[in-house]
Amino acid sequence: MKRAYVIDQREGGYRRFVWGGVLTASIFAVMLLIYYGYNFYYPAQLGPEQPIPFSHRLHAGVKGISCLVCHETVASQAGAGLPPLETCLLCHSRLITHFPPIALLRETFFSRQPVVWQRVKYVDSFNYMPDFVYFNHAVHIRRSIDCGHCHGPVKEMDRLVRVQNLNMGFCITCHKYYNASHDCYTCHR
Ligand code: HEC
Ligand code: HEC
Ligand code: HEC
Ligand code: HEC
Ligand code: HEC
Repeated sequence: MKRAYVIDQREGGYRRFVWGGVLTASIFAVMLLIYYGYNFYYPAQLGPEQPIPFSHRLHAGVKGISCLVCHETVASQAGAGLPPLETCLLCHSRLITHFPPIALLRETFFSRQPVVWQRVKYVDSFNYMPDFVYFNHAVHIRRSIDCGHCHGPVKEMDRLVRVQNLNMGFCITCHKYYNASHDCYTCHR
């Protein structure tokens, strides 16, 4: 009796070992599948969800709409600016008006509710570029620096993500490369 019991227990242990292996392997396989599936559908990853769905890939990429249509001040002022819903309605007062997200867009606009776009966190140590840093888009755009140098391949992204940390080292490395001023007062005034 005692011996049989020992053998039983060993067999049980062996089975548990095999099934444990199978289980671990299948969990691993499912995780891989999810990971690669996700990256297949969203090659450029997915950023924060917006109150009204908006895709840069579709607008700036597929439809080839210029960044300046929506970020009007990027070439003339310090800030690029985020578009008000009026800008969307330039096209969507006639385009696919009954498509649910556009119906939501129009409803939000006509009921005068503010839309709060979710922001990408571009600097590790702060939520936004802090007040003590002076940055100016226009000076960079005038030197033909591509948006992608700082913001990445926006035209491939449905929902924007950060591709690099826009920290002080990043700014200064490029300023040195271009022989642009890199004394403290350039960026801290
Ligand atoms: C210069 C014209 C233009 C402007 C401005 C514009 N769109 Fe569009 N939008 C389009 C076109 C073209 C399509 C594709 C329509 C189609 O598929 O028939 C589209 C499609 C869409 C769709 C549906 C696409 C999808 O993901 O399935 C949404 C949502 C949308 N736009 C939101 C917006 C928002 C929000 C704004 C303002 C921030 C905006 N659009 C500004 C031209 C524009
Ligand atoms: C049809 C309008 C439209 C066009 C064209 C457009 N954008 Fe935008 N952009 C938006 C809207 C709306 C937001 C805010 C919501 C979001 O982040 O998706 C935004 C946000 C951004 C942000 C800020 C992200 C943040 O959270 O601070 C960057 C950077 C940006 N766009 C870059 C670009 C670049 C580069 C192009 C051209 C290749 C471009 N955009 C073209 C409408 C547009
Ligand atoms: C030299 C780097 C650099 C380049 C080039 C650049 N940006 Fe930016 N952009 C920034 C920084 C820094 C911020 C501020 C981020 C923050 O506040 O967290 C920013 C913020 C933005 C925002 C958010 C709204 C705002 O004004 O803060 C938009 C939209 C934007 N950029 C669009 C563009 C577009 C479109 C281009 C190209 C025409 C462009 N950027 C080129 C560095 C750059
Ligand atoms: C891709 C290279 C590049 C990057 C990255 C970059 N800059 Fe610049 N920046 C330049 C160049 C080139 C100039 C000189 C423009 C000129 O004087 O014609 C400049 C000029 C400036 C100026 C204006 C200086 C003046 O004389 O008034 C400020 C301010 C500035 N950059 C801040 C920043 C900040 C802050 C960052 C990081 C968030 C940054 N830059 C990132 C290339 C870059
Ligand atoms: C080309 C632009 C640029 C120049 C030049 C520059 N900085 Fe900065 N600095 C930044 C940016 C952008 C940040 C915010 C992001 C970060 O913390 O890296 C920053 C942040 C800082 C901070 C706060 C760091 C923290 O994490 O709290 C200090 C302190 C600072 N800078 C000092 C200096 C000094 C001293 C000089 C001169 C030797 C200088 N900076 C020159 C762009 C610049």
